[in-house]
Amino acid sequence: MRPGRRLVRLFATATKAVGEAVTAARERDPAARELGTATILLTYGGVQAVLAHRVAHQLWRRRVPLVPHLIMHLVRLTTGVEIHPAATLGRRLFIDHGVGVVIGETAEVGDDVTLYQGVTLGGTGFARGKRHPTVGDRVVIGSGAKVLGPVAIGRGAKVGANSVVIHDVPANATVVGNPGHPVRVEGRRPEGPDADWAHLPDPVADAIKHLAERIDQLECLVESLTGRRPVGEVKRFERRRGPSSAGG
Ligand SMILES: CC(C)(COP(=O)(O)OP(=O)(O)OC[C@H]1O[C@@H](n2cnc3c(N)ncnc32)[C@H](O)[C@@H]1OP(=O)(O)O)[C@@H](O)C(=O)NCCC(=O)NCCS
Repeated sequence: MRPGRRLVRLFATATKAVGEAVTAARERDPAARELGTATILLTYGGVQAVLAHRVAHQLWRRRVPLVPHLIMHLVRLTTGVEIHPAATLGRRLFIDHGVGVVIGETAEVGDDVTLYQGVTLGGTGFARGKRHPTVGDRVVIGSGAKVLGPVAIGRGAKVGANSVVIHDVPANATVVGNPGHPVRVEGRRPEGPDADWAHLPDPVADAIKHLAERIDQLECLVESLTGRRPVGEVKRFERRRGPSSAGG
């Protein structure tokens, strides 16, 4: 291909990548909806990191020494996002807030993926070869989540904030907790005797509950013997469910 033509093609590819990155930010960050392109490009660290990686990755594929790593090192210093130049990133990836995101060398990320701050797509040991996750299209990974090893996150899956995922995740599932486990698959709670991972037994809470009940019984006994109810109140112990942790 003639150098002039190559330059035009390069410019078109770069323009498209920038346009897609800005659109992804506007679509997936409510705070960016009203922002101009320049504001997003100049102030969104996650967008800057993804765009810089597009350049570094091309250089890395052409076996250019040092420069791809140097680019991503500078990106890490300025944005707090560390992406290995060899990692494969799909189109319209959006990294919201950015800081603390780490994407390892053999990670593969699909199209339209959203990562929040503090997400790690990391390896589990010192093994060589494929050792980082493969993330399907339209996956959302919540802040602080760690996805470790060569696991596959199925398309459309959601990984809850602060989860630690070490097993494959089915498509369109929601996984939460440590270790990450499905709490929704295709919008429905998983069925089966061992499926209710979200409400694991809590022996300490159970022991406190039994003690509270025992004290209540003893106080009733004291009252029936003396005619006086001991001062003070043992509150009934009830499991409380806070507001939904969903958000973004
Ligand atoms: C997982 C998440 C995407 C919600 O997905 P969802 O498919 O809509 O799931 P739901 O909200 O219906 O939650 C399913 C269950 O998982 C629980 N859950 C949700 N997120 C959880 C989390 N991060 N950790 C532990 N449990 C969680 C819910 O309480 C609910 O429990 P229940 O089955 O007892 O009702 C969302 O909770 C989340 O973590 N989003 C990340 C947002 C984020 O990182 N924002 C950063 C902005 S700066």
